[in-house]
Parts: sequence; C-alpha cells; structure tokens
Amino acid sequence: MLSPMPDLICPIDKLPLFPQEHCLKCEQGHSFDRAKQGYFNLLPVQHKRSKAPGDNKEMVNARRTFLNNGYYQAISQTLNQTILAKHLNHSNILDAGCGEGYYLNQLLTQAQQQNINLQACGLDISKFAIQAAAKSNKTATWLVASNKQLPFPEHYFDTIFCAFGFPVYQEFANKLKNNGQLLLLEVGEHHQIELRQHLYPSVKAYSAIDLQPAFDCGFTLNDQQNIRFELTLKQAELQQLLAMTPHLYRAPKQGLENVQQLESLTVTIDVILYQLTLSDTPATTCNQ
Ligand SMILES: C[S@@+](CC[C@H](N)C(=O)[O-])C[C@H]1O[C@@H](n2cnc3c(N)ncnc32)[C@H](O)[C@@H]1O
Repeated sequence: MLSPMPDLICPIDKLPLFPQEHCLKCEQGHSFDRAKQGYFNLLPVQHKRSKAPGDNKEMVNARRTFLNNGYYQAISQTLNQTILAKHLNHSNILDAGCGEGYYLNQLLTQAQQQNINLQACGLDISKFAIQAAAKSNKTATWLVASNKQLPFPEHYFDTIFCAFGFPVYQEFANKLKNNGQLLLLEVGEHHQIELRQHLYPSVKAYSAIDLQPAFDCGFTLNDQQNIRFELTLKQAELQQLLAMTPHLYRAPKQGLENVQQLESLTVTIDVILYQLTLSDTPATTCNQ
C-alpha cells in the first residue's frame, strides 16, 4: 500500500511545502520538481559542499547487489523487530542516510506482513542512492536531502534510524517527537576484521562511537544489541563489500592486491544497534 506523503518543509525558508501536479511548492514560490523516478530533490545547491555529494554510482551499485543477496538480513531483521515492537499503524519513520533503501524496504515488507501501515521516508544526500531507492520501492517517500537540514516539521517522527551513516543529533532531536526513538547501526570491534587484516599492514585499534554528543542533545541510551555472524564470500562479493566501504579508497595498493588474490574469505560481521530515546526535557548544552 502507498505510504501517505509526509509533511515537508521548504529547505530554503522552512515554510510548508504543498504538493502540486508535478512538484512541491512553498508560499514564497520555491518549487521542487518530482523526478521521473518519483523522488524529490530538497537539497538546494547552496547546501551542497560538492557537485555530487555522498556515495557515488559505483558504491551505490555495489551496496545494492551485496545487500540484495541477503548477506545483512540478520541486521535488518533485528532493526525491524525493534521498530515494529513499538509501532502501530501510521507511525512516522525516517531512514536518515538510507543509501539505496535496503533497510527501509525490508522494514516496509515486514510491516506489511504484520498489517502495520507505516508512513515511511528515506533520505540521502546522494542523488544516485535515492534514484536507486525510488526505483526499488514505490511505497515510501524518497528525498535527496541532508541530515544536517531535515525538511520536516519539528517533533514529527516517532522513530529515526541511521544505519552506518552520519547522525546529526541536534537535527534528529528537533525532528523527533518527545520520547521518540533514535536507532543507530554502527560497526563493532570485530567488524570485517579478516578483510582489514588483508588490507592493512596493521589493523587500527577499535574505538566505539562517542554517544556523548547525543546525550548532550537530550538522548538517553536504553539498550544496545550486538549482531555478530560470519559470511564466507567469494572474490566478486569481496569486491562488492570493498566498494561499499571507505576501504577501497583508504587501503594501500598492496592491501587491495592481497584481497584480489583471494578465492574466498570468511568475514566476521559485527554490528551494534544502539537504541536511544529523546527525553521530554531537551538538554541545553547541545551544540552539535
Ligand atoms: C555507509 S552508507 C550507508 C547507507 C545505508 N544506510 C546502508 O546502510 O545501506 C552512508 C550513506 O550516508 C549518505 N550521507 C553522507 N552524508 C550525508 C548527509 N549529510 N545526510 C544524509 N546522508 C548522507 C551517503 O550518501 C551514503 O549513502
């Protein structure tokens, strides 16, 4: 079923956007066309740091192929259970930095199986990612936009989730309802350790995500869950995994060649799902 269009605000003057035949328009006349794939680009040029911000086409394609093979299904299932345990019909959900939409698609499929009707929106700063997302799922609203300026009214969402992305806690706090939840998927200590051992002469020590900036914005940590399993990947899949991570650009040439020599590799996937709640009284020291 088609998820209803969320309330959106103009990224330039923050006035409400009204749907017209092929675009969204605010009272001041700022207009945003509907792309043929069905998404809206709410990232004005003055909010961009580069011509094509975010993940490029190759990264998006590699991630889409890899994820659609189901390798991270255990991660999406844990995320779905956490969201659907709390939400009833018509909850407003945002996937902030959604990439090509794998996690939101999985959530909507699961929700439909449980007869739960969510109002779902995925946004990403990468136009290529949103084009892929909009092609793969017509039931959600897809937006090119930034986590730094979310184009929604204040206190709008029941849940925001951010998977391996770039959380902006102040903005998330502004757009979540009181007691709304923020779910973060982040890498754990042993994530892809075997791959990193082949890529780098010495593996960097792990440092967990610093949640203090989130606490400063009024979030409290309710729970955290480890999701850990092993995947045996063939050469082509290892290359897809590399292309969807920064390792492809960061790793030395020798490391990339080492991986190219492998026929297959068993890789540990180690991910943490952090569940945070926004308290009634927002903290005053948040300056993220
Ligand atoms: C590692 S990918 C994760 C994509 C997706 N969440 C997933 O796990 O499959 C990080 C994503 O964040 C996007 N991104 C980077 N900066 C962003 C920002 N300021 N606002 C929204 N998305 C951003 C990138 O374009 C990329 O798609």
